[in-house]
Amino acid sequence: MLDKGMDKEKLFEKLFDYKKMDLDYASGKILGSMCTKPDPIALEAYKLFIETNLGDPGLFTGTALMEREVIGVLGELLHLFNPSGHIVTGGTEANLMAMAVAKKLFLENHEGVPEVILPESAHFSFKKITSMLSLKPVYVPLNDEYKTDVSVIESLINDNTMAIVAIAGTTELGLVDDIEKISEIAYKNNIYLHIDAAFGGFIIPFLEYDNEHALNFDFKCKGVSSITIDPHKMGLAPVPAGGIIFRYSEHLEKLAVETPYLTKDKQTTIVGTRSGAGTAAIWTLLNYYGKEGYKKAVTQAIKLTNYTYEKLLDMENINVTCKPELNIISFTSNIKSPKQVKQELYEYGWRISVSANPYAMRLVLMPHVKQEHIDNFLKDLNEILKRE
Ligand SMILES: Cc1ncc(COP(=O)(O)O)c(C=O)c1O
Repeated sequence: MLDKGMDKEKLFEKLFDYKKMDLDYASGKILGSMCTKPDPIALEAYKLFIETNLGDPGLFTGTALMEREVIGVLGELLHLFNPSGHIVTGGTEANLMAMAVAKKLFLENHEGVPEVILPESAHFSFKKITSMLSLKPVYVPLNDEYKTDVSVIESLINDNTMAIVAIAGTTELGLVDDIEKISEIAYKNNIYLHIDAAFGGFIIPFLEYDNEHALNFDFKCKGVSSITIDPHKMGLAPVPAGGIIFRYSEHLEKLAVETPYLTKDKQTTIVGTRSGAGTAAIWTLLNYYGKEGYKKAVTQAIKLTNYTYEKLLDMENINVTCKPELNIISFTSNIKSPKQVKQELYEYGWRISVSANPYAMRLVLMPHVKQEHIDNFLKDLNEILKRE
C-alpha cells in the first residue's frame, strides 16, 4: 500500500489505463458471453443504492421491499403466485441454494449419500455444488437432440435420489429440456425438481412461439420446486444479479440461520452482507421495460440468431450443430478445429467461445451484438477458413 494516497487525477489516469485493457460489449466483438451491456438507467439505480446492505434489511427497508417486489415479478413471470426467493450473485449461488434446500429436505428422512440426477449438459456450477455439498452426481446422457434423455431418468432413481435437475437454456447450446415430462416423473416419484433457467428464464417467457411449440418449463409444471433465473444474463442487468425462486416458502426457510446482532433475527441467504444495488437495478429494469421491452429485446436477439444460422448454413465447410432454440449457435468446420478457429478469430479481435460437448464453436447473440457485427464476423470467418 502507498504511504500517501495519489491525487484523483493521477488515480483516474491509472484507472483508465486498466479500463483500456478490457473489452467492452459495445465493440460488438464479444460473441461468446451470456452477459451484456446494461441499460444506463440500471446503472443510475445501481449507484443510488450503492451503500445498501440486504444482509441487514432492517436498516434498508426500502431496498428489502424492492427485493420482495422483484421476487414477486419473477414469480409471476414463471407462473407462480406468492413466490419465495432472493436476488443473489448469479446462477451458481442460486443453484447452490436450491441444492442446499433439497439436501436438507432429503436428510429429514433419509440416511444415505444424497444423489442428484443431472443432465450431461448441466452447467459446471453443479460440479462445484456436488463437491461442496457432498452429493453424488448421477448423469443422464443426452439424446440425439443434445437434450436430457428423459427415457433414462426413471431407471436412475433410487432411495437416495435427492433431486433431479433439468435445464431451460443449456449453457453450450441454449436448448430446453423436456421439462413437462421430467416434471411428471419428479411429481410421481415425489422427488425435488430444480430447473436451471439461469439463461432461458428471461427469454422463454417472451418468445413468440405459437401454442403448439410453447416451451412449458416453469411452475406451471407441478413437479417443479425451484427455478434459477438470472437477471444478469438476458435480464439485461449489471453483474452481479442472479435469482432463485422457490415454490414453497417452507423450502427457503430450510436455509434460515439466526443472526443475533443484526436488525432481523434470521437470514435465508448464503451470503451475509450483500449489496442491494443489483436489486435496485433489476427492479428498475423490470419496471422500465415491462413485458413489452423484454419481448422486444428477445425478439431482436432471436431474429439475429436466425439470420446468423441461415448464413452459417449457406457457408462452405461449416456444419451447424443444431437448430437454435434460444440465442446460441454452435458450429464446426471441416477444415480447422474449433480451438484453431477461435485462436485465429482472436487475432481479428473476435472473442467467441468453444464448447466441450459437442466440441464446437459457440456464439451467444446477446443484445449488444448487431447485424453489422455478424456480417463482419462472417467475412473474417470465411477468410480464416480459406487460408492455410
Ligand atoms: C445454465 C447456467 N446455469 C448456471 C450458470 C452459472 O451462472 P453464474 O456464472 O452467474 O454463476 C450459467 C452460466 O453461464 C448457466 O449458463
